[in-house]
Amino acid sequence: MRIVLVGPPGAGKGTQAAYLAKNLAIPHISTGDLFRANISQGTELGKRAKAYMDAGDLVPDEITIGMAKDRMEQPDAENGFLLDGFPRNVSQAEALDVMLKAEGMKLDAVLDLEVEEDEVVKRIAGRRLCRNEDKHVFHVAYAPPKTEGVCDICGGELYQRGDDSEETVRRRLEVYHTQTEPIIDYYKAQGLLVTISALGKVDDVTRRAMEALKK
Ligand code: AP5
Ligand code: MG
Repeated sequence: MRIVLVGPPGAGKGTQAAYLAKNLAIPHISTGDLFRANISQGTELGKRAKAYMDAGDLVPDEITIGMAKDRMEQPDAENGFLLDGFPRNVSQAEALDVMLKAEGMKLDAVLDLEVEEDEVVKRIAGRRLCRNEDKHVFHVAYAPPKTEGVCDICGGELYQRGDDSEETVRRRLEVYHTQTEPIIDYYKAQGLLVTISALGKVDDVTRRAMEALKK
């Protein structure tokens, strides 16, 4: 299966992707995670992306599309993938279509996670990530680690993302509405869009997502 996850910052894309990728036996590919890994490794790509991310803006397409393509061409993604945070504007969606078409492939579904703004603000404000692995995600109130500040999965130190400050979150939401939301109509027109509510318990959202994808 080739699936795209969309939804505002803090909707729970990363959280759901971890479970869905496991259930569907496909890799979870998050462009945000890839950028953060490049930044922590001090790569040239990371250096170029950092200022955009700190400001809550999109990293330019000429950096993002190549990085996403390289990742999708890895052997583990041969039989499918779950994209989280890519595409994030119509030109990236068009580039993805071109990439897939060239390989004789197509998307199976685009899963849209719907959550209202005050809930995403609460989710982001309490989010904590593991220094060792961005995919280990916690929340101080909704998904607290057993020991404060320590990752349950690997014992790593938990931290708050630099772009999770109130001001940057406001900008990220604005960017989502103006640049990312148009891809919802783009995929609706292709008959690929599946919208679910991302409110409620993590398990319930995963169940809703699996049901929706089966259809
Ligand atoms: P990215 O890392 O993708 O950030 P984002 O889209 O803003 O989304 P988030 O990761 O903030 O939220 P999420 O939906 O994954 O929520 P999570 O599961 O963590 O992108 C960061 C930046 O990189 C961008 O701003 C841009 O600069 C750049 N970038 C990335 N991709 C790009 C692209 N394609 N083009 C250009 N630039 C790009 O959950 C949030 C919190 O809520 C967690 O604490 C979690 O525990 C909690 N939670 C989750 N589900 C629930 C639930 N059901 N109930 C209660 N709490 C919950
Ligand atoms: Mg995420």
